Amino acid sequence: MCGEMPVVRKSGKSYDGYIGRAYRAQLLRSLSIDSNYIHPMEPQTQSNSLLVGIGVLLFVLGGLLGFALIPAPAQEQMVSDVMPEQEEVSTYAEQERTYLERIALPEPDRLGGMSVTQALAERRSRREFAEESLSLPHLSQMLWAAQGITSERGGRTAPSARDIYPTTLFVAVASAEEVAPGVYEYLPETHELGLLIEGEVGDAWNAITPQPHPQNAPVTLFVNGNVLKPVERYGTEGARRVTYLEAGHVGQNLYLQAEALGLATLTMGGLDPAEARAFLGTTQYDEVLYLVPIGYRAAEVVDGEE
Ligand SMILES: Cc1cc2nc3c(=O)[nH]c(=O)nc-3n(C[C@H](O)[C@H](O)[C@H](O)COP(=O)(O)O)c2cc1C
Repeated sequence: MCGEMPVVRKSGKSYDGYIGRAYRAQLLRSLSIDSNYIHPMEPQTQSNSLLVGIGVLLFVLGGLLGFALIPAPAQEQMVSDVMPEQEEVSTYAEQERTYLERIALPEPDRLGGMSVTQALAERRSRREFAEESLSLPHLSQMLWAAQGITSERGGRTAPSARDIYPTTLFVAVASAEEVAPGVYEYLPETHELGLLIEGEVGDAWNAITPQPHPQNAPVTLFVNGNVLKPVERYGTEGARRVTYLEAGHVGQNLYLQAEALGLATLTMGGLDPAEARAFLGTTQYDEVLYLVPIGYRAAEVVDGEE
């Protein structure tokens, strides 16, 4: 049972999405478990903690002794293996990018549609897609539901811990009205698509997921978490937690919006994040958490259950 999550305070410098090497090391140290913490329901862990503490101490002393016996150049090599040389690290969202093309999306509907209650009552994971291009208004509406800006200060349709917004949406278009096949980034600030890769994902899907749904859907979203972005506020473990939780909110928004529009969709965690990262060309601090195929429902499927 681990202790309370250490609260990592913001550093002296203002939050700009980048962290230096020393501060990063401090964050990692701050994640060590407090060995004095005893969960009130588990008093027997007290003696276990003592034994574990002695074990850890012996392990660390042994490690230090072993390390001291290694020649200095080899020590430097080992340290640089775990601590990258560069002072600054960044996620995909923080890098300067140019797009091959920018496509303005139509204004989303902010008022109409099915009631939230009805969408909740009818929501299902739907895996059978009609062979029909996704219309531009429907694509626009889905992207807005996932990450659209809805307030002057930049608030979005999905909540975000401390307004950090670690989510990036990549949009793989196989067949959509007025949008050429390609992989785009959704740009919430301007409600546009920015073209990154021309052409369909095609056979590259086979490496990303063994499931057929993205290959059958006209559009598939990659919901990407920039897991380093919240680290300065939340520490490494907390950053993962808030990034993953945010992706859950985004997924439910997509489900409910799809239901209201009569579309088929599902969130798919069954993917290989390393392959997805390699395909998208994102950084080691980015993680694709879901794939979200979107399309029209195949006529014969009534409630989407497999
Ligand atoms: C985190 C998560 C990961 C999921 N991954 C997959 C997946 O890889 N493939 C799939 O077909 N469905 C996936 N699903 C959908 C679930 O199978 C589905 O939600 C479940 O069967 C309940 O059905 P319902 O969504 O229609 O209520 C996932 C759902 C969640 C929440």
